[in-house]
Amino acid sequence: MDLNTKSGRDSFSSKFGVIAAAAGSAVGLGNIWKFPYITGVYGGAAFLFVYLGFIILIGLPIMLSEFMIGRKSKRNPFGAFKNLAPGSSWKFVGLLGVLAAAMILAFYGVVAGWSIDYVIRALTNSFAAKSPGELESSFTEFIQSPITPVIYQLLFMLMTMGIVIVGIKKGIEKYSKILMPLLVVIIIVLDIRSLTLKGAYEGLSFLFYPDFSKLTADGILSALGHAFFSLSLGMGTLITYGSYIGAKNNLTKIALQVTVADTLIAILAGVAIFPAVFAFGIEPSSGPGLVFITLPNVFQQMPGGFFFAPLFFILLTVAALTSSISILEVVVAYFTEELNLKRKSATVLATVLISIVGVVCSLSMGILKDYTLFNFNFFDLLDWISANMLLPLGGLFISLFVGWYLGREKVVEELSQGSSIVEWLVRIFIFLVKFIAPGAIAIVFLNGLGFFSF
Ligand code: PHE
Repeated sequence: MDLNTKSGRDSFSSKFGVIAAAAGSAVGLGNIWKFPYITGVYGGAAFLFVYLGFIILIGLPIMLSEFMIGRKSKRNPFGAFKNLAPGSSWKFVGLLGVLAAAMILAFYGVVAGWSIDYVIRALTNSFAAKSPGELESSFTEFIQSPITPVIYQLLFMLMTMGIVIVGIKKGIEKYSKILMPLLVVIIIVLDIRSLTLKGAYEGLSFLFYPDFSKLTADGILSALGHAFFSLSLGMGTLITYGSYIGAKNNLTKIALQVTVADTLIAILAGVAIFPAVFAFGIEPSSGPGLVFITLPNVFQQMPGGFFFAPLFFILLTVAALTSSISILEVVVAYFTEELNLKRKSATVLATVLISIVGVVCSLSMGILKDYTLFNFNFFDLLDWISANMLLPLGGLFISLFVGWYLGREKVVEELSQGSSIVEWLVRIFIFLVKFIAPGAIAIVFLNGLGFFSF
């Protein structure tokens, strides 16, 4: 019998539900909005190459570690460390995670709001006959406006709240099981369109042929930060989801499937975008505007663009939604278990608090843009601190916790539930979480902050 059910705690009801929800968390704006533009900025395949290395050596073992911590403790990230390491300071790693979750969802909701607005623009054919310059200024004017983007951000937060408030089985699992297959279908349709354009080949070679000269230290830190961000690691999202996974499930298999799905979808998003961009002779290294400025320009020239444009922005919104619910759930689980709030009040409270920070984020694009720190506005600051600092730091502690604190016996116990365990796999896993993951994170981290000069 499922331990979760026995304790009265909500849980996922099927293996497909677990995978859809966890992959739903991983696949998000990170894959479709962020991955293509940072790949463009840092030299295409060279960046991809480093990114894949991080995914395999660091991402996968940390994902498995988070699932283990969650399922073993059946708690939110803060409660999980408190439960597994009573009386120690490890619980602050969990607390840091809850904080990172709130920060990420604040700016995440802003971009997701832009995406909803662009679904509407695409449906009303408003990209048609606009010059690249006009498309750019309409995007800039829009994100700087103090009203419309805030309304869409709040709408998105309400959608997120609506799913989370009904719980794991009836909310998160149910919607992930519908939305994830939809997402896969849409991305395949877009890939076929992009690959059948004349001149598509150049975009593919950009994505798969490495140019290492553009790969700076900053690029390597971004690859690491993005590996964490994209796999939803380092802040306890997957500790939280792990706490709803039943004893019969094989965690190693789930972690592997989720990692492969996330990476494949990021690459498929690149394939949907770059060949189309190159086919119309446009420069790919346009930063965050790639999806909101460059792509509308591509769509309005593309045969069938009036159909593919709304499809693309629906894809972006759906991907964002299955991720935002996982981020909100971290805070909600913390509020219900640590502050003893009812699920409903916890969800409303978390949504309200995060939305307030989100509104400031949105305004920092326009009326508050002169308030900067280290040259970052509030939005970029939250993005940078959470993705490049808090997540790798959280990941570092999570791997140290499993590798050095939890100990081999408990790892074997957790890994062998729902599966027959192979000795060499345990050895590799322990070696990775004990040495490789923390070592690599520490080096990349210090290097990115300018401690070494290579
Ligand atoms: N993985 C999500 C994405 O790629 C974002 C995310 C980060 C979700 C951290 C949960 C936790 O968009």
